[in-house]
Amino acid sequence: MADKEGNIDAKDFGIGIEQKHEGFFLKGCQNLDWGMKSRLARVFNPKSGHAVMLAFDHGFIMGPTSGLERIDLTINPLLDYADCIMCTRGILRTLIPPTCGKPLSLRFDAGTTILTDLNDETLMDIEDAVRMDAALLASMVAVGDPAHEGSTIRNLTRTVDLGMRYGIPTLGVTAVGKNLVRDARYLALASRVCAENGANVVKTYFCEENFERVTNSVPVPIVIAGGKKLPEMDALTMAYRAINAGAAGVDMGRNIFQSDSPVGMLLAVRSIVHDAQTPEQAFKLYTDYKNTHKA
Ligand code: R5P
Repeated sequence: MADKEGNIDAKDFGIGIEQKHEGFFLKGCQNLDWGMKSRLARVFNPKSGHAVMLAFDHGFIMGPTSGLERIDLTINPLLDYADCIMCTRGILRTLIPPTCGKPLSLRFDAGTTILTDLNDETLMDIEDAVRMDAALLASMVAVGDPAHEGSTIRNLTRTVDLGMRYGIPTLGVTAVGKNLVRDARYLALASRVCAENGANVVKTYFCEENFERVTNSVPVPIVIAGGKKLPEMDALTMAYRAINAGAAGVDMGRNIFQSDSPVGMLLAVRSIVHDAQTPEQAFKLYTDYKNTHKA
């Protein structure tokens, strides 16, 4: 209980000194509430402004994807090297140690698999995301998919509403339909739709030409998915080009956990994303790690 008598008088009011105020380091996030910014600052490194997110949510549509058959054996040893983990609640609760200390990008939607018709999704309860201490709510939008465009945009809108209520930012994920071209025009449109509907971060794919048009079309940070497994040098070059075209990070899965040296790849990707290394320098990190840590 506070003492009623004998207290030292308060006198250090700093009269004449303007109160310090700092902006927020992520684009388009300056007007968010404290909790949203705090969560974003756990995902994105405030020094580099960038993030290396490790995605292993593939099983929710693809089943036991190569490299994810035993997540306890293949992914858990990688957790220390990621800035953020992206997975489903099923994998989180069964296999990921709560002591890992990594912010969670939670797969917040669920739906159809590769065996039927992708993109027919529903959302989970926000209370469960709060229970799991989610730092991002990932919700997919299938722009241009005649069957599911509307329902997935409604899902994103609902995710943003729920996230705003509890101070959890939304990660809008652009899906790519079978009949849609993965070019800058499409990716900019899909990413912009996510941002216009309130996504605080957008995850999309890299495209070879004019990717800077995608990043500049969107008023919030963009992270790229890696896509199918590529030769390591190609994946590193993709990450380098994306960052140099204005991406704020990567949310990569198969090009990490399907590599012959997943830790080596994570270190290499980190060097590009956080330390402005070239693909050649990063590739050397990967090969050096691989050669000194043979299984
Ligand atoms: C796909 O189901 C998920 O959204 C993945 O998190 C995303 O595609 C990133 O993984 P990858 O780098 O393997 O494409």
